[in-house]
Amino acid sequence: MSSAKVQNSNRPFLLANIGQLLTLRSESPLPGPRRGRELKQLGIIEDASVLCMGGKIVSVGTTRNALRDPWIRKNRKTITEIDCTGKVVVPGFVDSHTHPVFIDPRLTDFEKRIQGASYEEIAAAGGGIRSSLDGVRKAAKRELAARVRAALEGMAVHGTTTVEAKSGYGLTVKSELKSLEAIKDAAASWPGTVIPTLLGAHVVPKEFRARSRKYVDLICNQMIPQAARRKLAQFVDVFCDQGAFTAEEAEQIFAAADNHGLSVRAHMGQLSETSLWPLLRFHPASFDHMDHVNQDDIPQLAKCDTVATFVPGANYFLGWKEFPDARRLIDAGVAVALATDYNPGTSPTISMPMAMSLACTHMKMSPAEAIAAATINGAHALGVADRKGSVEAGKDADLALFAVADYREIAYWFGVNRCELTLLNGIPAERPRTAAR
Ligand code: NIG
Ligand code: FE
Repeated sequence: MSSAKVQNSNRPFLLANIGQLLTLRSESPLPGPRRGRELKQLGIIEDASVLCMGGKIVSVGTTRNALRDPWIRKNRKTITEIDCTGKVVVPGFVDSHTHPVFIDPRLTDFEKRIQGASYEEIAAAGGGIRSSLDGVRKAAKRELAARVRAALEGMAVHGTTTVEAKSGYGLTVKSELKSLEAIKDAAASWPGTVIPTLLGAHVVPKEFRARSRKYVDLICNQMIPQAARRKLAQFVDVFCDQGAFTAEEAEQIFAAADNHGLSVRAHMGQLSETSLWPLLRFHPASFDHMDHVNQDDIPQLAKCDTVATFVPGANYFLGWKEFPDARRLIDAGVAVALATDYNPGTSPTISMPMAMSLACTHMKMSPAEAIAAATINGAHALGVADRKGSVEAGKDADLALFAVADYREIAYWFGVNRCELTLLNGIPAERPRTAAR
């Protein structure tokens, strides 16, 4: 669900005098996500420029060469020139894991957790994911689309240009499809790129209590076929964990997705360890959270293109002392990405720089690794790395300008937004009219 819409992206832009341009161009002949040492290779050009036209990147190089270019000299009057005054430009962030279709924040759960209640205790007391269902089931599609749209606008002003958006707070056929339609409607008027995911398998809703098999059948026989037929989803996700769905149920759901031509991804290892290998045969695009991973699964994961996506905003917001062991996975050659996991229960943030800051301070990822994980590897996790995640001629004009002199500052300053300008498919982001929720 890409977007050559709303505004005209044909206007040429020249970003000049960029202090550091992080191209993220590949130095390796191998396709697939970056891993190991490649994760630190940012392809930095100093005193750089980028020319964009028709929503695409046309050329990338030094400012000096751009200003000598005969085409640029001839067309200078028609080009909108942006003087980046020595600041940093990165590929627009790819937020490959978000849950934006919800109505209310979960403030009671927030207070209970502060008083010491655990994730499981909150869910057992009627809070957690199930407490968001009522709002979504009752809401009009237009209301949901407005929430999603506000989140997308907020993400864009923090430097994000591509967003994966999940359903998952309706959990009836009707309200899951309504949620996916809301994502589609919000995306249609947003200049960035949205990749929709069906998360009917978020938890078993209470009307199916003790009949989870029946609910899994509903997902497989109705939600997935209808979402696929109406082209409302590109991925099917499963929350595979204690209190949600078992690995066997996830396999059944993945098989149904496969039969209907949808790709798969899963929430794995957030609360407990589940063996990864039975699901790896479905070539999932990503396994997300990955707080608990069995050491024996790591070599196999390192051999495939399934991306381990960390969402440290959830660890932070849940007040956990432990964060995923990113070093263990990266050093073993597993491809990793970072995402916000924007949702009302565990990670109410739209900020990729915040996720990157947490990855550096709590997961010992270097700022360079955090950048690659938030851009090119996020693009791999969504299957869009051919057009997103790096600044190279021919790719989509997704760029973010940060008011910093050194890229490491993006993860260093936290709790403030240093993003000054975002281009989404060649269109500048507007400041949001409403707050992101
Ligand atoms: O990614 N873990 C499952 N799903 C979300 C939480 C959703 C919620 O609490 O509303 C997550 O953390
Ligand atoms: Fe999630």
